[in-house]
Amino acid sequence: MEEQLRALQEKTMEALDRAASTAEIEKLRVSVLGRKGELTGILRGLGALPPAERPVAGQKVNVVREMLTVAMDEKEAKLAEAEMQARFEEEAIDVTAPGETLHRGTLHPLTHVLTQVRDIFIGMGFRVEEGPEIELDHYNFELMNMPQDHPARDMQDTFYINAETVMRTHTSPVQARTMLSSKPPIRMVCPGRVFRSDDVDATHSPVFHQMEGLVVDKNINFGNLKGTLDTFIKQFFGPQTQTRFRPGYFPFTEPSAEVDATCTACGGKGCRICKGTGWIEILGCGMVHPNVLRQCGIDPEEYTGYAFGVGIDRLANIKYNITDIRLLLEGDARFLKQF
Ligand code: DAH
Repeated sequence: MEEQLRALQEKTMEALDRAASTAEIEKLRVSVLGRKGELTGILRGLGALPPAERPVAGQKVNVVREMLTVAMDEKEAKLAEAEMQARFEEEAIDVTAPGETLHRGTLHPLTHVLTQVRDIFIGMGFRVEEGPEIELDHYNFELMNMPQDHPARDMQDTFYINAETVMRTHTSPVQARTMLSSKPPIRMVCPGRVFRSDDVDATHSPVFHQMEGLVVDKNINFGNLKGTLDTFIKQFFGPQTQTRFRPGYFPFTEPSAEVDATCTACGGKGCRICKGTGWIEILGCGMVHPNVLRQCGIDPEEYTGYAFGVGIDRLANIKYNITDIRLLLEGDARFLKQF
């Protein structure tokens, strides 16, 4: 038995010497010291010895077990340390390496402008309405005081879907829809897409964006209109901006006006952008025509109102100095990521 023990000890120490990883040591530990290991086998064999010899023999086995255990623990600790170092090196992060740039999306300039404009009016107590893009002629024209054969229908080149249905040419029909579905006081804005049969060039597009405004209540007058639009323009373009109201014509308002703001590029001195005038046209507006009120079920003797329509694309062009309207619709990322 002693011979067997010595041979096992020698063999194990040699194997331990050769072991190059903690995994190998673990295997060795199982095969020698484990429940079915060789040393355990020798210990079991002690049962065959005469009882008097057993304690001494048992002690010898235990000494070898103790010695092998210590040797394995030591070598294992050393290898574990080396393995950890290797792993650290492998998983090391170079904190000085240049990072990967993540491209962040931005809002479309039209979305920026629309949000600003809408928020300004919400701040003045307006609510936001919506209307259909495919609209009945009845709302788009008739209720806006443009009956069949009215010459003002020629002001807008219309896409007809059939005799009664059009792609809305402006957001004004939402005025009629709002008046027919709610009672004064009314204070609403309505942003949306509009359509006209125009050829595409730097200043025209068959689809563009407008925002309609409508206020109807008792004692609404032109002064209210001027104050509201002046406030809007100053908030949107900056407090230094001046406004002026020029007489205009729209069939659905009387009187009508066009509103200019001092040129955002030169501040009113005159430059290429304002064609030397110092002024830029911003929107159309007026007092709601009595025919419109009456046709929409509101008594013009009791109520008055004002309305306005502003081109959102135009506002974006002026604010961001965009000279070609097509850029707003093409979705070119090189253009869009500037906003
Ligand atoms: N609907 C007009 C257009 O598309 C814009 C407009 C002008 C709207 C005057 C209005 C208004 O409500 O009062 O050209």
